[in-house]
Amino acid sequence: MPRLQEVVDLDRSHVMQTYGRLPVCFVRGEGARLWDTEGKEYLDFLSGLGVCGLGHCHPRVVAAVREQAGTLIHTSNLYHNASQARLGALLGEVSGGYKAFFGNSGAEANEGAIKLGRKWAKLNRGPDCTELLTALNSFHGRTLATITATGQEKVKRNFDPLLPGFRHVPFNDLDAVAAAITDRTFGILLELVQGESGVYVADPDYVEGLRALCDERKLLLILDEVQCGLGRTGAFFTWQRYGVRPDIFTLAKAVAGGLPMGVVMARPGIAETFEPGDHASTFGGTHLVCEAARAALETIRDERLPERAEEMGRTFTGRLRALQERQPKIKEVRGLGLMIAVELRTDDARAVMLRCLETGLVLNAIGDRILRFLPPLIVTRGEIDRAVGILEAALAG
Ligand SMILES: Cc1ncc(COP(=O)(O)O)c(C=O)c1O
Repeated sequence: MPRLQEVVDLDRSHVMQTYGRLPVCFVRGEGARLWDTEGKEYLDFLSGLGVCGLGHCHPRVVAAVREQAGTLIHTSNLYHNASQARLGALLGEVSGGYKAFFGNSGAEANEGAIKLGRKWAKLNRGPDCTELLTALNSFHGRTLATITATGQEKVKRNFDPLLPGFRHVPFNDLDAVAAAITDRTFGILLELVQGESGVYVADPDYVEGLRALCDERKLLLILDEVQCGLGRTGAFFTWQRYGVRPDIFTLAKAVAGGLPMGVVMARPGIAETFEPGDHASTFGGTHLVCEAARAALETIRDERLPERAEEMGRTFTGRLRALQERQPKIKEVRGLGLMIAVELRTDDARAVMLRCLETGLVLNAIGDRILRFLPPLIVTRGEIDRAVGILEAALAG
């Protein structure tokens, strides 16, 4: 096994430096725990930025991957694929009838959703109906269309010209959406919990109001469930918590137990807008990844992990709010299920995150003041207690 410095040197010499990496290299994982090149153990309360929702190397995912890797890894989408068809059926079952298109990432899923929405609008609303509303402080990916959709300037700098057809509105402000709609608007794309900008949760009234507005004005409600979906917020999909059904929603991150997959999900009536030749992805829905996804989704369903996320989320936020009573640095604890942020009154989120990393707790700092936690859905009360202990010491430090 190479040592950390060797990895750092190779990375700096041969890999584009897009990430500003932290000085740790993980080499093994199991459940909520990780180990680095130096043999040090960590509690992972970030799950690879929400990817390893079942924890690291979940035995059902590992078994499915091992079995499929020795049977058939890939065939072209020119041919039928039993793994893809069965995964589509499972996603249809847990979503209540939506149909799937399989790609490889969250950005690719959102690209697909935007294309599907644009084509639906051309056919059903007219050739000039090309505008999609998205929220300020949203995050939808790093491709050209998805940085345009994203409501944060920092991801767009130096990449213009961006795409026409996008307009941003303030989050959680129904009047602003209503005022922004024109005859050219075909839909709104939204995260119900904004993850990358700091865990901001949509108000139930806002979401109900959006659904009603979309029905009234014949707009598509497109939900980005890339980070908040798949059990993390206490329901299989976050929209199920709000009691609204989107026209289109997107999945990625946790969908294949740690392997790359993105999915566009569309309700019947919209899904058929895509016809042969409209959209494709060479690696999309490949056998290996579909079997990993089927194992991951069956585990989430069979082990009732959304309910567990809800319960552990209550425990974790409860412990964090108790810590807030003892630690005046904490301004706010917010979130939904196991998607949680602690906002500080001081500008030392990064220093706190680094002290936690040093003491063996993996979490994420957003900007100067926000700490984000995305622990795996299988996290235990004992692990939550340990994490809060490490955080308390780091905040005091
Ligand atoms: C809500 C949301 N949408 C889209 C993406 C982009 O996903 P990917 O990095 O897989 O392209 C992310 C990634 O953080 C996300 O949080």
